Amino acid sequence: MTLIPMTPANKSDKDRVVIFDTTLRDGEQCPGATMTFEEKIEVAEMLDDMGVDIIEAGFPIASVGDFEAVAEIARNARNAVIAGLARAIPGDIARAGEAVRHARRGRIHTFVSTSPIHLAHQMRKSEAEVLEIITATVKQARNLVEDVEWSAMDATRTSIDYLCKCVEAAIAAGATTINLPDTVGYAVPDEYRRMFKTIRERVPNADKAIFSVHCHDDLGLAVANSLAGVEGGARQVESTINGIGERAGNAALEEVVMAIKTRGDVMPYWCNVESTMLTRASKMVSAATSFPVQYNKAIVGRNAFAHESGIHQDGMLKNAQTYEIMTPESVGVKQTSLVMGKHSGRHAFQHKLEELGYKLAENQLQDAFVRFKALADRKKDIYDEDIIALVDEEMAASHDRIKLSSLTVIAGTHGPQRATMKLTVNGQTRIEEAEGNGPVDAVFNCIKRLVPHEAKLELYQVHAVTQGTDAQAEVSVRLSQDGRAMTSKAADPDTLVASAKAYLGALNKIVMKHQRDLPAAAAS
Ligand code: KIV
Ligand code: ZN
Repeated sequence: MTLIPMTPANKSDKDRVVIFDTTLRDGEQCPGATMTFEEKIEVAEMLDDMGVDIIEAGFPIASVGDFEAVAEIARNARNAVIAGLARAIPGDIARAGEAVRHARRGRIHTFVSTSPIHLAHQMRKSEAEVLEIITATVKQARNLVEDVEWSAMDATRTSIDYLCKCVEAAIAAGATTINLPDTVGYAVPDEYRRMFKTIRERVPNADKAIFSVHCHDDLGLAVANSLAGVEGGARQVESTINGIGERAGNAALEEVVMAIKTRGDVMPYWCNVESTMLTRASKMVSAATSFPVQYNKAIVGRNAFAHESGIHQDGMLKNAQTYEIMTPESVGVKQTSLVMGKHSGRHAFQHKLEELGYKLAENQLQDAFVRFKALADRKKDIYDEDIIALVDEEMAASHDRIKLSSLTVIAGTHGPQRATMKLTVNGQTRIEEAEGNGPVDAVFNCIKRLVPHEAKLELYQVHAVTQGTDAQAEVSVRLSQDGRAMTSKAADPDTLVASAKAYLGALNKIVMKHQRDLPAAAAS
């Protein structure tokens, strides 16, 4: 047996699987995963570096902020095709065309529902009417860009005869990619494979387009279905980093890529993604969205390469291949060797970050190092988890306008609890104090006095980053306003400081999003 990465030596174009990432669109759509403009730019840059073929950068009609993010990503992309999503509505398509106009290679991705249940209850249109819409909207998109993807929403619950007609019409109107999504995560692998095979056999102009899979994970089958679709002849896979997305999420990009790379013996496909960047991508998206990665998540979970049982550890010591089907290095996990403490210097800190899969800009590195030193002064043993929490927070907070300068809390049995807080808001210092029903309530009331806002607290969660009474507390806060939820995480040995920072992190995201969208509000 050979260990991966194992891309076939005789790569042929017919076996190439194009990787389409929709973290910034379908991924960002899931409640609480909203990213700021700056975070989206950073994630897109990383996806482009990683060799993702197509980046779906957003839904330009949704807001001015979304439009600006897609347009900026389109301007900056070096290699990837940049796609903007559009419903089958002329205004949506025009806006998506405008957003991707500056890309070296831009794509409009337009979709319409095709299943009887969607036609009857959501669209309230007949099959014939939808067919006309497909032709008109794909033609409109094709007049704006060369590269047009058309998606049949809820394809897996659509009759195969009608789906064939829709696909034929979309290709005849100029679609270059046909995506057949399992929108509600209902399909099973063999059924999904057969759908692609049948469509490709029955639609007369099928050879003029690339077929694409797009699977949701409601039954936990998104990756299996995606690979089955490839077996059925699809050559584009739509997926997201860490599998984030609507409801149970989308197929996880890292799982699709590593399945293709690891099982070349049974799946003769290949793709261009640099798998050693997967861990970094996962961390970046987790930090930007504040969505934790489940510990036992395939490929990028912190236990993905951990061997706990005696028998496994014994095997690993004798030969790693006894229990490892891919090397940690192949997905960018370096064997961490340096033990960190208060005597560790900047160079060792930077080295540790590289081992953990992070690459920070110079100013972020400097700020993170200052915070690491402060933490090392307060905490004897600094574990990798402490550094991960610290850096995730640093990456997420680097564009914040509201920053915590100091916090004092009086708590205990003789209430009411009282907090005094100093913030800098756009560079200006503000001080306030407030009481609360408990210290956390006092802290949050203080923030509300300092920065009045309408956002509602939806989630407040605390857990210890490591063991021991001096462990850092990691706090997650989700705030929602105007139907959009923003989550933020922060860690500190003091739970109340971590709470304040997490709340401010989420509030910063809301403020930034609101400011980006202001022109839309003014225009409407
Ligand atoms: O799941 C879905 O059907 C989608 C479409 C917009 C492609 O996300
Ligand atoms: Zn989707």
